[in-house]
Amino acid sequence: MHAIEAQSLTKTYTGGVDAVKGLDFEVEAGEVFGLLGPNGAGKSTTVGMLTTTIIPTGGRALVGGYDVAEQPLLARGVSSVVFQDPVVDRSLTGRDNIELHARLWGAGSQGRMQELTDALGLADLIDRPVSSYSGGERRRLEIARALVSEPAVLFLDEPTVGLDPRIRHELLDVIAGLRARQELTILVTTHYLDEAERLCDRVAIVHEGSMVALDRPQALQARLGSEILEFRVDDPVATLAALRLKRLASADAFTVGARLTVPLHEHSAADVLAGVDVHPAEISTRVPTLDDVYLQLTGAELADAA
Ligand SMILES: Nc1ncnc2c1ncn2[C@@H]1O[C@H](COP(=O)(O)OP(=O)(O)OP(=O)(O)O)[C@@H](O)[C@H]1O
Ligand SMILES: [Mg+2]
Repeated sequence: MHAIEAQSLTKTYTGGVDAVKGLDFEVEAGEVFGLLGPNGAGKSTTVGMLTTTIIPTGGRALVGGYDVAEQPLLARGVSSVVFQDPVVDRSLTGRDNIELHARLWGAGSQGRMQELTDALGLADLIDRPVSSYSGGERRRLEIARALVSEPAVLFLDEPTVGLDPRIRHELLDVIAGLRARQELTILVTTHYLDEAERLCDRVAIVHEGSMVALDRPQALQARLGSEILEFRVDDPVATLAALRLKRLASADAFTVGARLTVPLHEHSAADVLAGVDVHPAEISTRVPTLDDVYLQLTGAELADAA
């Protein structure tokens, strides 16, 4: 049995916004699965459907083997979610928030409280009102709260957004540590590619409600070969078209602003540069990153290349 299963999962909001257009994916038990995509790609809508707060308009989804539409209470019973927007009560202390959540879920918090506050570095602030917490501390509390019911599946919607780099890295360590817990499956959405690379066994890249890639981060990166050439030109779109015509750039080359990125594959940088009639302002070659894959798949050039 898969921990999460989505089959043609679809959401069209009232008013006609096609937020999610038939997603198909499976997440194994114990896997950390990343959902990446630009603003408005449909990530939160997907998390909403998997956590039963948003009703799918098509297809179906199973969490822990339970159908989110037909068995919402059972599906919810095996999962927990940290939403993109904070839900903890700011007037209560951290401890009260965790206990309240545990009671609502019929889970005892005794014993777990100590373990969770230690694991998430909350021991010193757990008895302070949440209104006095920093953004990162509140985020850690929300994760502790989500874990108190001992979910099999944890959904994290942009867990590190708005956090300073140090806190972000600390939180990433915490999340990476959670996966050591037996059989905890995590689905995490993020805009930070380094995060996905560090945490996720596999990532799905979602663009305008559809999945445009699904693979291990390293495998996605390998698609662009071992070296890419990057340079700035006045008219990157026209330059790209010219390079494609001469077969010096293929469909995976893309532009972002004034920058042109060309995966080299069998060509040399000199070959490609000889093929353009411009004096590029800045030229560099480097190893492709997951960011390149993301930009290539979610940029405007996608439509042109397709
Ligand atoms: N309640 C709603 N009614 C109508 N349209 C909605 C509603 N909620 C979201 N949408 C639209 O659905 C699309 C997907 O939104 P969603 O929040 O799932 O994106 P997201 O990938 O989580 O984006 P972000 O990275 O900005 O959080 C967007 O176009 C959004 O405007
Ligand atoms: Mg979102």
